[in-house]
Amino acid sequence: MTTPIKKVVILGFGNRGQCYAKGFRSSLGSLIEVIAVVDPQIPQTTKTLSQMGISAKVYATPEAFIAANPEIDGIIITTPDNCHLESFKAIAHLNKPILIEKPLEGDKENFHELAPLLLAYEAPILVGHCMRHAPILKKAKELLEHNEIGKITSMRFVQNCHYGDVFFRGWHRRSEAITSLYLEKASHDFDIMHMLNGDNYAKSIFAFSQRYKFGGDKPNDLSCHECPEQVSCPESVLNQQATIQGSNVIEESAGRHKCVWAQEADIGDDEMCMIEFSNGVQGSYIQTFYTPQNYKGRVYTVVGTEGLMEIDIGHHHGTIAVHQRYGTKGDSVQHHFDYLGRTHYNGDTYLVRNFLGIMQGTEEPFTTAEAAIAAENTGLAAVKSVQSHQLQSVATLTSA
Ligand SMILES: NC(=O)c1ccc[n+]([C@@H]2O[C@H](COP(=O)([O-])OP(=O)(O)OC[C@H]3O[C@@H](n4cnc5c(N)ncnc54)[C@H](O)[C@@H]3O)[C@@H](O)[C@H]2O)c1
Repeated sequence: MTTPIKKVVILGFGNRGQCYAKGFRSSLGSLIEVIAVVDPQIPQTTKTLSQMGISAKVYATPEAFIAANPEIDGIIITTPDNCHLESFKAIAHLNKPILIEKPLEGDKENFHELAPLLLAYEAPILVGHCMRHAPILKKAKELLEHNEIGKITSMRFVQNCHYGDVFFRGWHRRSEAITSLYLEKASHDFDIMHMLNGDNYAKSIFAFSQRYKFGGDKPNDLSCHECPEQVSCPESVLNQQATIQGSNVIEESAGRHKCVWAQEADIGDDEMCMIEFSNGVQGSYIQTFYTPQNYKGRVYTVVGTEGLMEIDIGHHHGTIAVHQRYGTKGDSVQHHFDYLGRTHYNGDTYLVRNFLGIMQGTEEPFTTAEAAIAAENTGLAAVKSVQSHQLQSVATLTSA
């Protein structure tokens, strides 16, 4: 008996929408088929789909898609951060399973409107918190639940984001579009802190944010390709390609080729915060967006009464090391994970498989709206703390 193919529409066909379309093939042998795409950039989207060999219909707006009335089994929202509310509202009446990207919304007011709508939605909602699906982090959770380091007392999370320039090449660099990288990027890490802490969420936070490197006095519309300084500028697309083989440079189609020294860049590129969780565990988190590529990426340390766990997530390979306080030298145990080129530490594979199971009616969402709201509330409280220079309480669920 053949497995029926599930048909989906993707709203927003940029970097992430394309990543899902590729993942449906590589992780699911096309058991999910993209039959429609909504994106205002019609010629570019049509070209990209044709290059990918996907014969989906392209619509400029959700209304045009709905008017055409194609039969679908699921909806994917991968529009820019501050368009998620608008995308959700346009399509929610179809009442189909939704995969919506994190952060749930990039705009604070929109987030407060969207959160209760997501909680009240009747069909299942899966959030793109792909890191929760990564085998390395699922294993870490399992080890902690088996008391490998005793009772958790604190967590120290660091993210060295070597490709951070990407966030200064397009819409991400304006607080108007994302509010802060505490939402856009740290929501992943806050979500994993919550997960490893048994879903005991953050209660209060004190946060700092600085912009030390990116932004400046260049025109907002300047693109690397037309810049006379592209040979001498170390962050130009040309030099990024020459020095690190372009791994930081997202295709021009995604609109990420603008100058990182633009005037409009007003978000922090080096941020740190202290967190207290509802069960008394303490935490710290640092994210820096201009670290060298050959240094470590995300490193999560979890301290317990009887040991310590270091999760060195790495770029292509990750390691969990468990050290026992009462062990002797050599007693530490290591677990290794190869990602073999699969995205988000191989989390995307299981995220899309979860979405297939949800559409088939055999699985529940593993990354829920509730947990995503908690992570985003933590990010919003961090922003409030940066602005006020004071400790801030983290809101619970939908409260402001
Ligand atoms: N889970 C993850 O790890 C992860 C990784 C990357 C991106 N994301 C999230 O995915 C979302 C998209 O990010 P991206 O990197 O693909 O951005 P992008 O800029 O590459 O793509 C966004 C696309 O949406 C289109 N668009 C803009 N307004 C629209 C609208 N109103 N309706 C439909 N389409 C519209 C744009 O033309 C563009 O093609 C963001 O929320 C981002 O935070 C998540």
